[in-house]
Amino acid sequence: MRIAITTGGGDAPGLNAVIRAVVLSANQRGWRCFGIRRGFLGLMEGDGILPLGPDQVRGITHQGGTILGTTNRGNPFRWPVARPDGTVEEVDRSDELVAAFRASGWDALVSIGGDGSLGIAHDLWRKGLPTVGVPKTIDNDVAGTLFSFGFDTAVATATDAIDKLHSTAESHERVMVVELMGRDAGWIALHSGIAATADVILIPEIPFDLEPVCAKIRERDAKGRRFSIVVVAEGARPKGGAQVLVERRQAGGADRLGGVGARVAQAIAERTGRETRSLVLGHLQRGGSPTTFDRLLSLRFGAAAVRAIADGRFGTMTAFTPPTISLVPLAEVVGRPRLVPVDGDTVQTARDLGIALGD
Ligand code: F6P
Repeated sequence: MRIAITTGGGDAPGLNAVIRAVVLSANQRGWRCFGIRRGFLGLMEGDGILPLGPDQVRGITHQGGTILGTTNRGNPFRWPVARPDGTVEEVDRSDELVAAFRASGWDALVSIGGDGSLGIAHDLWRKGLPTVGVPKTIDNDVAGTLFSFGFDTAVATATDAIDKLHSTAESHERVMVVELMGRDAGWIALHSGIAATADVILIPEIPFDLEPVCAKIRERDAKGRRFSIVVVAEGARPKGGAQVLVERRQAGGADRLGGVGARVAQAIAERTGRETRSLVLGHLQRGGSPTTFDRLLSLRFGAAAVRAIADGRFGTMTAFTPPTISLVPLAEVVGRPRLVPVDGDTVQTARDLGIALGD
């Protein structure tokens, strides 16, 4: 057996642990592995195939990032091509990719990625490539799995950051607004916001109104708590309004979100008269060493992907369905972001603790 491995989309802590587990599990069976560099670019551009054995994956379990590199602009079905007039069009180059895969003599593909990369994996499987997906995203918005790896580390980073904001907010009697990642799903903001005892948490699933946000801040002021912490997911939007973008979608890519935290901060300052500061935690949430939970989840996913190949269970994704890792059909996963259930107990916990959710 010859297994190809690709890491696509935004990086997340735990990618290297998955790669290591795939390589070592395959090696135990006498199989060989090959890493495709930079998503599918290494295969499309023919310059990026890396033979992977135990030596190549030594000492990488605890390392963030991916030894293969990644890109969120390498969709073979929507390949960006520059026209002479400067515009960019998208063309379908998936046949070339399938031909390159077959020419390499590979028997299986392990595609490690978020919803976008898993959608590509699903389309490649429908074109006949024997593919198994592994769910990766700090946003935790892949359907079919309770957690994707990377999420726990991102939440730990965000919780630590919010903890640090508390002392400076209290010393200066300020409102601190922190914008966290989370395009369509507010998992990072909700979990870290509750754990770090934020006063307000705004998530994409609950369009917000500024009045209850400001009421919460005034209520705290009246009790002598003259500082407040507001956590905003980058994808949060006001009731009846739109998400805040840094940049519109470019060919082959996605809209870049960002800026809602600054807008919320400005509105709070204007409405309450309180001194307010905002910051964006940004890509710090994607970096660093994976937590123990993420390392173990990643290693379990990687080993399960190789077992799936051994059993011929292609067109599936490894999923965390406690207490086991199971396989779910990719068809049931792609294009269905797993959002925070607004009637779930975690949201209810926030409400029970008196945290304002902007509704
Ligand atoms: O999907 C993960 C994510 O971290 C999103 O929350 C964020 O919008 C996006 O990646 C940013 O990606 P990049 O800056 O790499 O394009």
